[in-house]
Amino acid sequence: PRKIIIDTDPGQDDAVAILLALASPEEIEVLGITAVAGNVPLELTAKNARIVCELAGRPEIRVFAGCDTPLARPLVTAEHVHGKTGLDGPDLPDPAMPLQDTHAVDFIVETLRAEPPGTVTLCPLGPLTNIATALARAPDIANRIAEIVLMGGAYFEVGNITPTAEFNIYVDPEAAAQVFASGVPLTVMPLDVTHKALVTGPRNDAFRALGTPVGRAVAEMTDFFERFDKDKYGSLGAPLHDPCVTAYLIEPEIFTGRHINVEIETTAELTLGMTVADWWGVTSRAPNATFMGDLDADRFFALLTDRLARL
Ligand code: BDR
Ligand code: CA
Repeated sequence: PRKIIIDTDPGQDDAVAILLALASPEEIEVLGITAVAGNVPLELTAKNARIVCELAGRPEIRVFAGCDTPLARPLVTAEHVHGKTGLDGPDLPDPAMPLQDTHAVDFIVETLRAEPPGTVTLCPLGPLTNIATALARAPDIANRIAEIVLMGGAYFEVGNITPTAEFNIYVDPEAAAQVFASGVPLTVMPLDVTHKALVTGPRNDAFRALGTPVGRAVAEMTDFFERFDKDKYGSLGAPLHDPCVTAYLIEPEIFTGRHINVEIETTAELTLGMTVADWWGVTSRAPNATFMGDLDADRFFALLTDRLARL
């Protein structure tokens, strides 16, 4: 299996991404989960990550708390999407498992230095503050990271938190700029892909029909999560942004994209946090990311439902 660290701000869709990873031990070994401030403040994301591990029946997974503020800006949260707790929808118990004492950034650095080079993949599902801080503090780890597979950004779909920016990149554009300039191989799941991974009614029914606590919780989480996009865009269902990252690790053929240059806007007022993606190759800037553009949604949901049934 691929060894991964999940860096996350749960978030209902983060929760589903974590559940998918934990349900797939043949392909994915979760070395640890690092929480970052994003959808809700750090205290809640660190708690929610543990709630999800316990829901999956995996209380031995180590969860670490990381950065509570973006590198250079005040935190912007998304309770309007995810609810006050970040995990509104199901009624899940407070976690009994402990939060680790080590800071998430130290865990990331120590793990990358301890494991053989090129064997650990980082999976950021929130703002990139922890990852950028680790790279800045320990530049030697850049060469040791196998790949960073992240959810963030947008091109044709443009933005969801401002007209031109996706939430994860917008919250900490300086961190994103550092990660995109790091030279580490990047695979990016932008809104162009995730807005096609929609939990339609029948797909939600399929989660519920699993008849397990996990199936019910995922149905309730996506029900709650859906109301935001529905009210706003008349969407067909909740977009499962973050699970695209863990699905990619299991069945990369579900996704198609291009290896292109992507730069992060960090100074402009109107377009702060925009992922300037050279999809058509109109600049001579070197490619730094595989930027996905499409997915096979039926195959994605078949995989997800099949794996959730195992928990
Ligand atoms: C991203 O922002 C968060 O609200 C979601 O969890 C996802 O990571 C989508 O823009
Ligand atoms: Ca997230």
